[in-house]
Amino acid sequence: MTNKKITIKDGQTDNEIELPVLDSILGPNVVDIRALEKNLGYLSHDPGFIATSSCESKITYIDGNEGKLWYRGYPIEELAEKSNFTETAYLLLNDKLPNKSDLNDFFKSISSNYNVDEQIKDIINIFGKGSHPMAIMSACLSLLSAKYHNEIDIQNKDYRYRSTIKLIASVPVISAWILNSIMQRDFQNTSENLSIAENFINMAFPDLSDDQKELSSRAMDVIFLLHADHEQNASTSTVRLSGSSETSPYAAIAAGISTLWGPTHGGANEAVINMLEEIKNSDKDVEFYIEQAKDKNNPFRLMGFGHRIYKNYDPRAKIIQKIAHEYLAKLSKDNPNKPLFDIAMKLEKYALEDEYFVSRKLYPNVDFYSGIVLKAIGIPQSMYTVIFALARTVGWVAHWNEMIEDKNFRIGRPRQLYTGNKKTKYTDISER
Ligand code: SDX
Repeated sequence: MTNKKITIKDGQTDNEIELPVLDSILGPNVVDIRALEKNLGYLSHDPGFIATSSCESKITYIDGNEGKLWYRGYPIEELAEKSNFTETAYLLLNDKLPNKSDLNDFFKSISSNYNVDEQIKDIINIFGKGSHPMAIMSACLSLLSAKYHNEIDIQNKDYRYRSTIKLIASVPVISAWILNSIMQRDFQNTSENLSIAENFINMAFPDLSDDQKELSSRAMDVIFLLHADHEQNASTSTVRLSGSSETSPYAAIAAGISTLWGPTHGGANEAVINMLEEIKNSDKDVEFYIEQAKDKNNPFRLMGFGHRIYKNYDPRAKIIQKIAHEYLAKLSKDNPNKPLFDIAMKLEKYALEDEYFVSRKLYPNVDFYSGIVLKAIGIPQSMYTVIFALARTVGWVAHWNEMIEDKNFRIGRPRQLYTGNKKTKYTDISER
């Protein structure tokens, strides 16, 4: 890391400050502004964190202009083709690919933790019919945080490893139980010999044929892998900020779940299907909806389109589009999900040729095609964001570990530009 200097001239006091520029391995270098407040009394201001690096990270690299995504240096396309979710989870956590015995041990440590606390089932049952599964999931994580509260020992590496493995093993089982409850089925048992994706499919759809289970597990495994991490997105930043107070990792993940839920983040996969269904059932054509999305007086936006970082095609969307194609073809020629896929392809085609979308560099993101595959697998729509959270738990815990091991680790505490009242005299209620 070389230390170049940049100079900021402060017009008022004519003070000069030299701030170091930290070299990144790839991507933009960053100006280390920590001396700004101490030496000049200024804060930096960046609503929405457009130009703010909040931490150092070695986990995931994105080149938004080129549409590149790498986990620990490995391109996502190669991982999706050659790796699997368990191996990728190991990679994200350990910064290296496992050898056979590492992978075996890692998988065993996960599957031996499939035996999630039975009380989780009571929590799921408490929620009424129609409750959103993301709320249920968050409550389940809160139960785990209560359960393991006395064990909290954030600075202890063994504690962190234990809770990391427990979280990666428990969240998929909890998700499958929530799915069982939504589909009004008995809670299914786990199978220690099955991978995370196989176990999830087996618990979710016990009546499927073995061939169908294998097909769905393979599609699900790639979907998990593609969602596993995405550097400092809103939910990961939430987990980091929440975890920075040294709270329980289960509580920090619950905070991440709440953030992911929103329709402009992970909740977009559910919103995309709502949008495609609406288009399918309406007598209006795709162009009508494209025009609506462009109209600033209309709140309608093309869900699954646009991204803060990608100013090019999200590489995950390309891979999921291919899976959707292959998966739907394997199911049957007249698959009921085919019309939605066709509408999505048409929307994409029109948007990518439209000046509004082209000039703003708005492309399909990860959420655009994922709902179509999940729908074809048979996952109820309200569960799509749960699937995202299940996979992202790996990234969340990888970032939580990295943060605590960081030499600069301290509680996160943003500042503000105060624009409220100056000191104001209190008036008695009778005089107001
Ligand atoms: C995820 O950050 C991550 O890494 C997230 C994620 C992950 O893996 O963790 O990748 C997962 O959250 C994917 C994003 C899912 N959300 C959606 O699909 C919802 C639809 N998209 C948008 O709401 C929006 O594009 C965001 C939230 C994704 C990004 O918002 P930004 O960066 O704040 O961009 P913006 O809203 O300021 O948009 C810039 C311009 C605006 O037009 P102008 O004011 O400049 O004229 O583009 C327009 C926006 O109005 N625009 C859209 C649009 N998205 C942006 N116009 C129509 N339809 C859209 N979808």
